Amino acid sequence: MATIVIAGANRGIGLELARQYAQDGHDVIRAMRGEDRADPIFGTTMALDVADAQSVSKFAAALDGRPVDLLLANAGVIGPERQSSTDMDFDGFLHTLDVNVLGPLRVIQALLPNLRKAAHPRVAVTSSRMGSMAAPQSGHLAYRASKAAVNKVVQCLAADLAGDGIAVASLHPGWVRTDMGGPGADIDVETSAAGLRRVLDGLSMENSGRFWAYDGEVLDW
Ligand SMILES: NC(=O)c1ccc[n+]([C@@H]2O[C@H](COP(=O)([O-])OP(=O)(O)OC[C@H]3O[C@@H](n4cnc5c(N)ncnc54)[C@H](OP(=O)(O)O)[C@@H]3O)[C@@H](O)[C@H]2O)c1
Repeated sequence: MATIVIAGANRGIGLELARQYAQDGHDVIRAMRGEDRADPIFGTTMALDVADAQSVSKFAAALDGRPVDLLLANAGVIGPERQSSTDMDFDGFLHTLDVNVLGPLRVIQALLPNLRKAAHPRVAVTSSRMGSMAAPQSGHLAYRASKAAVNKVVQCLAADLAGDGIAVASLHPGWVRTDMGGPGADIDVETSAAGLRRVLDGLSMENSGRFWAYDGEVLDW
């Protein structure tokens, strides 16, 4: 049984990942900011706003030195209404970077002592293929830029945490039917979470520092 911390697990992909891991008997800590949409409530729920450094410190302190086997930095926002290269809501852009880029790094840094206590610690960030530098498409500039930036964060973490034996991955969950993905998206949360779990089962020090899709494809950064 592993201890699994999921940031942003009150709804969407994070909630479904938590549900599946809990069903398999793992000890799941659901870290969340907003209203809990789990019905019935399961796992341990803890308060966490990834955009608030104090909240992240409090959350880490509340874990009280407990070993963490798997940390999933899943919380994310799609960004402001106006986010094109010709018409940008700059405050909204900053907030998107704060949540999607600084947020995962804040949480991962704060939980390093907990991860270092686990036998085979793993960390993953829910990124998006929309941030891939190999994809020339436009639209949702703030979101795309934030996911490109967090991919670089993941690469650096993988290099810097190799000495600690902590494996790190960036994940693309697919286009998923959630509040963010919308009802017309390709796949449901069950399919996405099951695929992501298979990828995470295979995450090791040998393949640390890669960008994976939920179906196991290794993506171009
Ligand atoms: N759905 C897709 O098609 C898709 C595709 C590619 C990547 N992704 C990525 O997958 C992840 C999950 O997305 P989703 O589709 O499940 O979206 P969602 O249903 O909109 O859920 C977003 C989650 O992030 C949390 N969150 C946002 N800001 C937060 C903050 N400051 N502190 C803590 N939690 C915060 C939300 O909590 P609140 O309820 O408190 O807002 C919620 O739990 C995101 O990183 C997203 O970018 C999604």
